[in-house]
Amino acid sequence: MALWGGRFSSDTNRNVAEFTESISYDKRLYAWDIVGSKAHVTMLAAAGIIPSATSKKICKELDLIRKKIEKGEMAFKTELEDIHMHIESELIKNLGDEGARVHTGRSRNDQVALDIRLYLRDEIGNLLEKLEVFQAALVKTADMNRRVIMPGFTHLQHAQPVLFAHHLLAYVEMFERDAGRLSDCLKRLYVLPLGSGAIAGSTLPLKREIVKELLDFPEMSRNSMDAVADRDFACELLSALSIFSMHVSRLSEDIIIWCSQEFAFVELSDAFTTGSSLMPQKKNPDIAELSRGKTGRVFGNLMALLTICKGLPLTYNRDLQEDKEPIFDSLDTANKILDVYPEMILTMKVNVQAMRKAASDPALMATDLAERLVKLGVPFRHAHHKVGSLVKYCRDNSKALNKLSLDEMRKVIPEADEECLSLFTPAKSVAARNIFGGTGPKEVGRQLRFWKNRLSYILKDLKSV
Ligand code: ARG
Repeated sequence: MALWGGRFSSDTNRNVAEFTESISYDKRLYAWDIVGSKAHVTMLAAAGIIPSATSKKICKELDLIRKKIEKGEMAFKTELEDIHMHIESELIKNLGDEGARVHTGRSRNDQVALDIRLYLRDEIGNLLEKLEVFQAALVKTADMNRRVIMPGFTHLQHAQPVLFAHHLLAYVEMFERDAGRLSDCLKRLYVLPLGSGAIAGSTLPLKREIVKELLDFPEMSRNSMDAVADRDFACELLSALSIFSMHVSRLSEDIIIWCSQEFAFVELSDAFTTGSSLMPQKKNPDIAELSRGKTGRVFGNLMALLTICKGLPLTYNRDLQEDKEPIFDSLDTANKILDVYPEMILTMKVNVQAMRKAASDPALMATDLAERLVKLGVPFRHAHHKVGSLVKYCRDNSKALNKLSLDEMRKVIPEADEECLSLFTPAKSVAARNIFGGTGPKEVGRQLRFWKNRLSYILKDLKSV
């Protein structure tokens, strides 16, 4: 008979037990369930609700249960539903009546709300550390290639020359915002739900402040109904992870394109690529592809959780048990990506020649010419049109923009001066953009210094890779 079986006269049907169980996946919350229960019984004793000796015994037994689980000696049973029931039954089995006091003034509704918060606090902390390692890998690669020029793209068409470092640092900025979103989500996790009971609080004189202190929560939930029903902190996390995945997916897409034979801007190391079972010559960027592909499940998990929550009347409904798998899956996915990506970036070979060659297409400097005309007093829209006509002239006459004489250029652009002829080198183009946030080497150098300083403690260790 289940722990809640008092009002039932028969056992749960086997299929129902299978259908309702969550132990197969929520067992990963065991450590946090134990931490929460220890704080709870410590408070119960301090409030005079259970004897202090009982509280101590329960805490000791909980530590033993933890060890048992960690040694793989705990038998998980479908009939016991979830991790909370497993730990409580074990306590009762070993301590009898004393163990039966652990759940005093508590419901699984506020218990699971606490466990998941404690778990996510820890997980997000780890993610934030790994995100910094990822940023550091990008910063280091940018720093080692600080002078490398590549074509920048818009619409995947040649746009303007940029520094490769500038391109990489763009992702560092994105991951910085991802970290900001995760930290923000962390703030809302730091609210203690325990003490809310099943829905309405408790008739027992619980001292929530004690649990709050013990578990390091700066705040307590102000509304018990909100506390047991709310999963918006998890929606927020899955949303932050979706945006992170989207960023990784874009970086992956860039890398996949750069690895193609047509581009050949980079080559991934053998250790971070895989081969084809049929075509002997293949070396595929599978990590980047899988990271791009995994975005699907991360977005899906967000949709799943939002959909689970959207129709629920207050307060707790069993639907909420379905929150866990999407949460775990998105965290696992993010962790897997973060465990493999930084080293793939660090071991990537940059093909400086291929990038330079692609960037030296003089058409990439058409904007530089238009802006030179602006400096000579031509209104920008006219300058744009004139340079467009010059590009067309070159195309119609099979000439390169950078091979025109001044006279020839003046046929299309009478305002052109000598300087206009010398604009067609990518290095010069890049160097002219030291505006704050621009791709000029001085400016990118300044940004690099900022990131190197900010991530210095990680960069020291990265040298060994
Ligand atoms: N396994 C459940 C969950 O994850 C725990 C809460 C169950 N509460 C209940 N009233 N049946 O949501």
